[in-house]
Amino acid sequence: MTDKLSQDELKRAVARAAVQHITPCLGTGAALGVGTGSTADLFIDELAAHRDAIAAAVASSERSAKRLRTHGIRVVDLNEVESIPVYVDGADEIDPTFAMIKGGGGALTREKIVAAVATTFVCIADASKKVDVLGRFPLPVEVIPMARNFLWRELAKLGGEPRLREGFRTDNGNEILDVHGLQISDPRTLEAYLNQIPGVVTVGLFAARGADVLLLGTPDGVQELRRPGC
Ligand code: 5RP
Repeated sequence: MTDKLSQDELKRAVARAAVQHITPCLGTGAALGVGTGSTADLFIDELAAHRDAIAAAVASSERSAKRLRTHGIRVVDLNEVESIPVYVDGADEIDPTFAMIKGGGGALTREKIVAAVATTFVCIADASKKVDVLGRFPLPVEVIPMARNFLWRELAKLGGEPRLREGFRTDNGNEILDVHGLQISDPRTLEAYLNQIPGVVTVGLFAARGADVLLLGTPDGVQELRRPGC
């Protein structure tokens, strides 16, 4: 219980730090990219105080869109904007190169799209998300339902154990296979390999487009880290 509480506090601290980070965008008319998950929820709650300075938000899920609207923040379709200066989102794991596993909340496809449009990806995470090698968290893969069993067999060939996320449909009407037990030492190559298998909608590896900035919540405070070479 104590651990849980402290993790929530770390998430809240990075959510607050993220608001500081997006301050230059406030009042400029720019659209803000907003991710999905419990950390992103806290970020959305922190944004509420700045609602009048936020021209619009592009959300990576119906869940986040609803929460933004509840706070009086205007949500627009991605097709209505040409650019997104900053996208703020959580991660399930992030490695030293700032490649991530995402999709624990099932929003990986829209997250990847919004991240692709964004100039800067700010990852907000508590310290438990920082790992040396990705894969302890099961890798989510969004799949077209008719390809589920085929892709289950293909994913099993990687050496992990795919499991259907029972009773879950994504915002796009698809299913998710979570692949347990992988050690992903070359996330870029694995992402490219999985992307080309027919029936895969999105793999929850964000390596080709990883984070640019990491706001990491630690017991000693929030660290602001830049992607190596960035
Ligand atoms: C949702 C995601 C989330 O960013 C990820 O699951 C982290 O969630 P949380 O902030 O709840 O730990 O990718 O699809």
